[in-house]
Amino acid sequence: MNRKEKILVTSALPYANGPIHLGHLAGAYLPADIYVRYHRLKGNDVIYICGSDEHGVPIMLRARQEGISPQKIVDFYHEKNKASFAQFGIKFDYYGRTSSKVHHQTSRDFFRTLAKKGVFVLKTEEQLYDPEAEMFLADRFVRGICPKCGFKEAYGDQCEKCGSSLSPTDLIEPRSAVTNAKPVLKKTTHWYLPLSRFQKKLENWISGHPEWRTNVLGQVKSWFNDGLRERAVTRDMSWGVSIPEDVANGADVSGKVLYVWFDAPIGYISATKEWADLQGNPELWKEYWQDQKTKLVHFIGKDNIVFHCLIFPAMLMAHGDFVLPDNVPANEFLNLEGNKLSTSRNYAVWLDEYLEMFPADNLRYVLTSIAPETKDADFSWKDFQARSNSELADILGNFIHRTLTFVEKYFNNRVPEPGKYDELDMEVLQQIKKSPAQIGTWIEKFEIRQACRGMMNLARFANKYFNDREPWVTRRTAPEKCAATLYLCLGLVKTLAVVMFPFLPFTARRVWTMLNLAGDVETRNWDMVFRVHLTPGHPLNKAEVLFPKIEDDVIIKEIEKLHKFTNPDKSGAEKQNFENEQKKEENIVERVSFDDFKKIELKVAKVLAAEPVAKADRLLKLQIDLGSEERQIVAGIAESYQPEELVGKLIVVVANLEPAVIRGTESNGMLLAASQGENISVLTLDRELAPGSGIK
Ligand code: MF3
Ligand code: ZN
Repeated sequence: MNRKEKILVTSALPYANGPIHLGHLAGAYLPADIYVRYHRLKGNDVIYICGSDEHGVPIMLRARQEGISPQKIVDFYHEKNKASFAQFGIKFDYYGRTSSKVHHQTSRDFFRTLAKKGVFVLKTEEQLYDPEAEMFLADRFVRGICPKCGFKEAYGDQCEKCGSSLSPTDLIEPRSAVTNAKPVLKKTTHWYLPLSRFQKKLENWISGHPEWRTNVLGQVKSWFNDGLRERAVTRDMSWGVSIPEDVANGADVSGKVLYVWFDAPIGYISATKEWADLQGNPELWKEYWQDQKTKLVHFIGKDNIVFHCLIFPAMLMAHGDFVLPDNVPANEFLNLEGNKLSTSRNYAVWLDEYLEMFPADNLRYVLTSIAPETKDADFSWKDFQARSNSELADILGNFIHRTLTFVEKYFNNRVPEPGKYDELDMEVLQQIKKSPAQIGTWIEKFEIRQACRGMMNLARFANKYFNDREPWVTRRTAPEKCAATLYLCLGLVKTLAVVMFPFLPFTARRVWTMLNLAGDVETRNWDMVFRVHLTPGHPLNKAEVLFPKIEDDVIIKEIEKLHKFTNPDKSGAEKQNFENEQKKEENIVERVSFDDFKKIELKVAKVLAAEPVAKADRLLKLQIDLGSEERQIVAGIAESYQPEELVGKLIVVVANLEPAVIRGTESNGMLLAASQGENISVLTLDRELAPGSGIK
């Protein structure tokens, strides 16, 4: 067997100021998780590190606007995002956060080492300052007229219209994106990383990696062609990692912190340290970060290429104690129904909302099947439905189900005795041997989409084998042949369980259980799967349907939801409107538009009759007069109200709620009631209005 490889895998630390959507998942997390699960099955020494990126200007601005501390915001999203990842089976060995003590210390130490080595250049310059907000403005927060093309909404660092790269002082009529105030110039001192001094070294290093993805190498090359420039690694603000004073050379460090893109990638290191602490071996992190045998792999989206391929490696080179990335498999972007995903416009499929409707594995499968590895890809609900039904259900699920139910019905639910194999049977054995190796090679080359196709092709092959063998015929005509067929089909099911595990971990577990196999599918050795045979006579568990069909109506609802509650930018251009961003992110508890509110039809109703619901202690059944009609509604208020006290009252109901059957009783609408713990108060009118009156 090959020597164990040591692999350190990271996924970009997501900002802890918003939830995770399917674009994030497809870009940096799902492919990494598949890669890591595969290497775990291979028995390699792999750890998977991620965490929340909790610093940066947007988090600080949002906190300021909501009048709460940035810590409160990041606490909220750190927990929420961590939970979302877990629900999708993204299994980190450690999920850290950059507001942690270890991280602050590690980043400060890193900065200190570079400062002591004389890596930085200290410069005092005039920068744009917002006198109203009393803050220096990051390039992105200065807007104005582009000097090249006259576009009015150019950013301080770039004009989105003509593409020219700008500096904030180039803008005509600059204004603050925070307050709209006219920025003034103010002197400030910052530490710069002179990247040009690293260009040669970086070029040499990257020329040793022709195997990297062409999109990654392409971007890197164009940065080299433009010539690397110095970058400030500090900022004027209070939220972030403070600058170590002992290496400040007398400069004033108060009110300054490390630039978020300086500290965030160091988060990979600090999270590994925290992981090592938890393992009870605080030095363990060094065996990954400081051993040249380690393969460091960064999974990211394409917008992070420059940071992971140039800036962070330059920092690592300057420091000297760490390994450099072995590969940076960056993905292109995922679109949604032909439009760009946008957090600010709420145009996305959020992971928590997805899970209310569908299982995690379906999304894992579809996102992997369309993974934007070489070019942008598009997620559509129709395609999601088609792949779920015609691939997961009709091929993979169907093969496993028909095999298991056949064995259940005709072999007493026990593994049959295989008997003799013919040529076609030998081909099955070959497939069981070859497929995992082939799929594994693709995963190792970061061709995850192809690997997923390979997995489905094995299921396709298996289905065809089942059909060609016609066990429902041989059962009568050639029982021994039938037994051999089913024995091999069970072998295929078992192989599929292992091979699908990186892609469909939840389903793989279920199949493992149905096969009634000992241990955990996760600890199966990938290379051993074709050698470990099933024992004839081994009893199986009950077969279950793995992938219920997804019906049109739920898909239509998802599509409508996207179009109703959002307002996609049809042009597809990235018009990141700061004001929109602010509006949407005003509250952690989301606000709704007045239009959304108006969709809820509130009406006055008169209670005509009320009675308890049999066998439901908390429910009352009410007959109400809505002016134009009479209806029945059910309400959970029986512990606070006697039926007779309600009769004759004027109450408020949601008239256009979808009817529901509650404990066997139809409810056609919902009454409004206030509650404080156990205390409930039904909202009633204090004037006599006609039933059916509207409410606004
Ligand atoms: N938070 C960044 C983003 O979402 C990614 C940070 S990656 C790290 O774009 F390397 F800096 F951690
Ligand atoms: Zn322009």
